[in-house]
Amino acid sequence: MNEGTPDYRDSGLEFPADFVFGSATAAYQIEGAVRQDGRGPSIWDTFSHTPGRVLHGHTGDVADDHYHRLDSDLDLMKRMGLESYRFSIAWPRIQALGSGAVNPKGLAFYSRLVDGLLARGIAPIATLYHWDLPQALEDRGGWTNRDTSHRFAEYAHHMGEALGDRVAMWTTLNEPWCSAYLGYGSGVHAPGITSGRAALTAVHHLNLAHGLGLSALRDAVARPATQYSATLNLHVIRGVEDDESSPEAIRRIDALANRAFTGPMLRGAYPDDLIADTASVTDWRFVRPGDLELINQPIDVLGVNYYSTVTVRMWDGRTPRATADGHGEAAGSPWPGSTTVDFVQQPGPYTDMGWNIAPDGLEELLLSLREKFPTLPLMITENGAAFPDEVVEGRVHDERRIDYLRRHLTAAHRAMQQGVDLRGYQVWSLMDNFEWAYGYTKRFGIVHVDYDSLERTVKDSGHWYGELIRGRRIPE
Ligand code: FCB
Repeated sequence: MNEGTPDYRDSGLEFPADFVFGSATAAYQIEGAVRQDGRGPSIWDTFSHTPGRVLHGHTGDVADDHYHRLDSDLDLMKRMGLESYRFSIAWPRIQALGSGAVNPKGLAFYSRLVDGLLARGIAPIATLYHWDLPQALEDRGGWTNRDTSHRFAEYAHHMGEALGDRVAMWTTLNEPWCSAYLGYGSGVHAPGITSGRAALTAVHHLNLAHGLGLSALRDAVARPATQYSATLNLHVIRGVEDDESSPEAIRRIDALANRAFTGPMLRGAYPDDLIADTASVTDWRFVRPGDLELINQPIDVLGVNYYSTVTVRMWDGRTPRATADGHGEAAGSPWPGSTTVDFVQQPGPYTDMGWNIAPDGLEELLLSLREKFPTLPLMITENGAAFPDEVVEGRVHDERRIDYLRRHLTAAHRAMQQGVDLRGYQVWSLMDNFEWAYGYTKRFGIVHVDYDSLERTVKDSGHWYGELIRGRRIPE
């Protein structure tokens, strides 16, 4: 292979003994049992039951029925050889209305999950918030209401007290970009609001929840080895060749998508250009004195979710706009103050989501994080691909997913060779599940789920991943 142009299709690359290979899921996407054992409704229950919001009217009511199949799913993880499992806790199972006393049955489920993982030698990585806000809090403004950040801290404290002696790594938020901009800006995610001002208010209250939640967890957890993190879907943003407007478009999207979170969390300030770009939308009065100190807490690991890249330029208002931003048709924009940035179709190949496959983007992202935050360890908390898989005679031959995983693991390995402190890789996803606004139409699992029988079938990629973990090297 030519040194300068890697194809990322390597095999045989070895990973260090302490590198943690696992897989990831999220509560609403797999659990089902939405009305059981005292769980209250979340914004995703309301949203998915609202006609027109989710493809084919799919909901998470049953999902993978993981709530009732916990033990057999744990056995499956063990058979596949996973070393870690990144799951999320459904806040409305713990506090049906988002505040007040905890629901012992909800806690018991996650306690059983954590014990089941430990009994099988799998490290628990717990995310506190993967988008399923208690509906009762949304009824009072959700993430546009500052009180939600305080309620989140209270919930975090309860979870720290209950599971803090056993969880290896805590993540406060998963992809606050999606919660804020897709939930309150473009409206393609719950709660489906389309307001730039609401989206930016949500950005800040999510950042505040992260800071307050971290403090609350640390207060409640006595276990010294515990690690604390947040997971971001940082955008890898490219320009159009020879287009003079691209640098400006890149700067704007970098401010909204990336620095709006890394700024306060890791540097203790919102970027000046972000404030300026969004001046017509909000004066940022919701940022109160002292907030940035609360948000800017040390974390042990930054979780990185990576799927693909975006390419941008400024729209001149005359020529037709290129394409959407890869997040579906929307009534609102996920880019407050920068709605004239144009997202250009990128070269393929693509996954079933229409997302371009670009392992070089992952390498670039990891290297740029090392450059910006040299002492911060990283973990890939999501990476994976949707393809329309089918079970044929008991097997799922998902060669394209194996190819995707191989190339992205090669990219991760290349970054590590160049000095990136990367601690692990959690493939998205353990099993096919409810893919938000796309319902069950997109299959990301390394395990296939038959949505009629709920039967699980390990895909070829799942077997391949197991071989990788056993050998600690990328297989043929
Ligand atoms: C991420 C989400 C995850 C899943 C993947 C495909 O944005 O965190 O729940 O939907 O995308």
